[in-house]
Amino acid sequence: MIECKNISKIYLGDSPALENISFKIEDKEFVSIIGASGAGKSTLIKILHAEEKPTSGEALFDGEDIVEYKKKQIFQHRRDVGVVFQDFKLLPKKSVFENVAFAMEVAGKTDEEIAEDVPKVLEIIGLEGSEEKYPHELSGGEQQRVAIARALVNRPKVLIADEPTGNLDPESGWGVLESLIKINEYGTTVILATHDREAIDKLDRRVIVLKDGKIVSDKKKGKYELEEK
Ligand SMILES: Nc1ncnc2c1ncn2[C@@H]1O[C@H](COP(=O)(O)OP(=O)(O)OP(=O)(O)O)[C@@H](O)[C@H]1O
Ligand SMILES: [Mg+2]
Repeated sequence: MIECKNISKIYLGDSPALENISFKIEDKEFVSIIGASGAGKSTLIKILHAEEKPTSGEALFDGEDIVEYKKKQIFQHRRDVGVVFQDFKLLPKKSVFENVAFAMEVAGKTDEEIAEDVPKVLEIIGLEGSEEKYPHELSGGEQQRVAIARALVNRPKVLIADEPTGNLDPESGWGVLESLIKINEYGTTVILATHDREAIDKLDRRVIVLKDGKIVSDKKKGKYELEEK
C-alpha cells in the first residue's frame, strides 16, 4: 500500500509544486492522476519513485517512509516500483527481446530466467512474434509497450506511468492503455499520470485531480474534469 501524508514539495526558491497532499492507494488499484501542466503530477511520481524528496510529509510504501530510505533500500524500491515515461528510450541497437532482457540482466537474473520470462511479458503486452525486431522497426505505441515490458519484467508491485500515451495517436495510445489494464488485472498496482481525456473516460476508475499542487478531487469512478464539481 502507498500512503502519502501531508506531502509538500518546494523546489528551491519557488512556490510549492505540491502542497499538503494526502491519499492512500491500496494494492492492486488502478489510479489516474490528472491536472493541468505544472499541477505537480510528475513531482508526485518522482517522490513515489524515490527520485525526489518531499520538503515535508511522509510517503509510506508498505508502511515504510520512502523519504528515510538508505541507498540500498532505494535500489530495492526501484525494483518494487517500475516507471514508464513519455520520452522512454529503448536501446536502438538491441532487439525487442534484448531490450527487455537487458532490464533483467541489470537486476542480476540468470539466462534461464530471462529465456523464460521475456516471452511471457511480451505476450502480455501483445508483442509476441516481434522479439527480433529493432526499435526503429516498431510504431511509437509498440515501442512504448516494449518500455512497459521492460518495467514489468522484474515483477514490480507497482507500475507508474507518466504520460505514456503523450506522444501517440489515439489508437496507439489505446493499445498502451490496454496493456496497463491487463497488467493491473494480473495484480500490479498501476498509477497513471496523464492529460489523455479519452483514456480517463474509457478507464472509468479512480481519478485524483491535482491543481496548483493540491488535490481538488479524488473520485472512485472519475471523469476527465480538471475543476472541482
Ligand atoms: N526540478 C525542478 N526544479 C524546479 N522546479 C521544478 C522542477 N520540476 C518541476 N518543477 C516545478 O514544479 C511544478 C510542478 O511540476 P510537475 O513537473 O510536477 O508538473 P506536471 O503536473 O507533471 O506538469 P506536466 O503536465 O507539464 O508534465 C511546476 O511549477 C514546475 O515548474
Ligand atoms: Mg509531468
